[in-house]
Amino acid sequence: MSENINTLLKESRVYQPSAQTKAAAYIQDYESAYKQSIADPEGFWSNVAKELEWFTAWTKVLEWNYPWAKWFVGATCNIAYNCLDRHVKTWRKNKVAIIWVGENDQERIITYGELYRQVNRCANGLKKLGLQKGDRVTIYLPKVPEQIVAMLACARIGVIHSVVYSGFSAPALANRIQDAEAKLVITADVGFDRGKVFNIKSVVDQAVANSPTVEHVVVLRRQTPGVTLATPKEIDWHDWLKAEKAVCEAEHLDAEHPLYILYTSGTTGKPKGVVHVHGGYMVGTYITTKYVFDLKDDDVYFCVADPGWVTGHSYIVYGPLLNGATILTAEGKPDYPNPGRWWDLIERYGVSIFYTTPTAIRLLMRYGEDWPKKYDLSTLRILGSVGEPINPEAWEWFHRATGENKPIMDTWWQTETGAIMITPLPTVPLKPGSATRAFLGIEADVVDSQGNSLPANTGGFAVIKKPWPAMMRTIYKDPERYKTYWNTIPNCYAAGDICHKDENGYLWFMGRADDVIKVAGNRLGTAEVESALVSHHAVAEAAVIGKPHKLVGESIKAFIILKQGEVESHALIQSIKDQVLKELGKIGVPSEIDIVSSLPKTRSGKIMRRVLKAKELGQDPGDISTIED
Ligand code: WTA
Repeated sequence: MSENINTLLKESRVYQPSAQTKAAAYIQDYESAYKQSIADPEGFWSNVAKELEWFTAWTKVLEWNYPWAKWFVGATCNIAYNCLDRHVKTWRKNKVAIIWVGENDQERIITYGELYRQVNRCANGLKKLGLQKGDRVTIYLPKVPEQIVAMLACARIGVIHSVVYSGFSAPALANRIQDAEAKLVITADVGFDRGKVFNIKSVVDQAVANSPTVEHVVVLRRQTPGVTLATPKEIDWHDWLKAEKAVCEAEHLDAEHPLYILYTSGTTGKPKGVVHVHGGYMVGTYITTKYVFDLKDDDVYFCVADPGWVTGHSYIVYGPLLNGATILTAEGKPDYPNPGRWWDLIERYGVSIFYTTPTAIRLLMRYGEDWPKKYDLSTLRILGSVGEPINPEAWEWFHRATGENKPIMDTWWQTETGAIMITPLPTVPLKPGSATRAFLGIEADVVDSQGNSLPANTGGFAVIKKPWPAMMRTIYKDPERYKTYWNTIPNCYAAGDICHKDENGYLWFMGRADDVIKVAGNRLGTAEVESALVSHHAVAEAAVIGKPHKLVGESIKAFIILKQGEVESHALIQSIKDQVLKELGKIGVPSEIDIVSSLPKTRSGKIMRRVLKAKELGQDPGDISTIED
């Protein structure tokens, strides 16, 4: 790709923090706090770590064997202990940990003490099924509190969880279960989506049929009469735990013990199992939640993510619980039963921190400002955005619709980074559309392909120059793939994003450099979608690109070559879409499919997606000297 990417976006508005925001903030002066933190990153991170509880202390903060990092070497800890026991020992015992609202408005309120007991029962249940430290459990649940309970229960005894988003189809789930060699799958009968009931259990049935490592399936039955279970492999969640004791000692784990595997899309078809560990991840998610959202004990924190994605792991479950926060989480979509849904929840529960996505903001924008105006949003004080670049228009709308004086934290990070990396803090002056500056202790830059720093307003690759505690430790069973993150650009972690810095050092993310598409903030590899397309009997070859889309950020457009003798028809296109739906689930289905007679390829046979994209968008395709045809 061309080195000097034009930066077309010109945005000059700057928003200063209000007196109120400033008065409350932990970090009053970002510039000096940042300078101090990167003058001695190990000192900075070890001071953060000391705010948490460790069973035994570390002997070394960082051991860096490029590109392999170990943080808090020699220490033992447990992230679930820090999420629960640390608070249950204090006045927070009876503080509300989770307010959960179902799509049908059912409400469950769980205190730290109650969450502690539920997690312990579940941990004992896991032990009873024979699960041991290091074993893997796949959690395929809709957004219900049991999802959080199961994650923490695994963590408590050193079992590694792999949460799979419940919108994934059976083959995608099977693939993830098999790669992790999970012994147990935890699931539910059904989930709800915009008033429709979707059957989750049947997806698991299909996936488990091809996954010989699975010994048990625990089913949370939400409907009556309950779905039939095929014993003894299948167990009802409540039967499983009703006799379990509410005490289960947290395992003392090495700081580097794996906490979870989370599968994410990359540039090849096979999803990558990103591995995070107890110690460093705990430190990173704890401090970013605290400083970015300026989280205090009296806040009500609402993050709209699903724990099926990394945002849910880090900013619904671990980060907020480590801080002893009160978390609101709601099943369902922002416009169901009407576009006032989230504003209503904010009013109803007095939400003060609201973390959402550009896709959702753009969706709500379409319904107009009258919806937020109907509700009292005065409790809000900090807003957040994540998952894709937020366009200035959506930023301005969000800012206006929520009362004009609430700072928006545009947080840039990745499944691989574990925690927020580039972000404002509430006292940092904001420029709509910019994720602003690096978080404390993080050294970020924009470089060319050789790793040279680029001047202001020149597009290049976003990189991180030093290891950080919450970074992934490896790709599960694929260390070579892990290395590519640190090999692509000399001496740096290459994020795969294109970015530029402005004259104030503010970072502006411009999208992906590789073949990852972001649909509604969710990562999809082009290769994954292509392989689903060619699994259709009529498709010979396929290439997909992401196309800018007003609402969901990017939409998927597919170019396919049909097998000889196949004839294009409306029914055929539909059956190809159905095939992708079956293979990947709804998020993978292309919104457009074009039948073509050839695809642009390099001489070595690689599809040149950027040529397709440039053509589609009417842009200059750049260097095409390697093209075959
Ligand atoms: C994109 C989600 C611009 C980016 C936490 C990154 C963003 C990918 C932002 C990771 C943001 C995330 N501004 N782009 N604030 N946040 N991205 O692993 O392309 O699902 O590389 O993690 O999302 O996606 P992932």
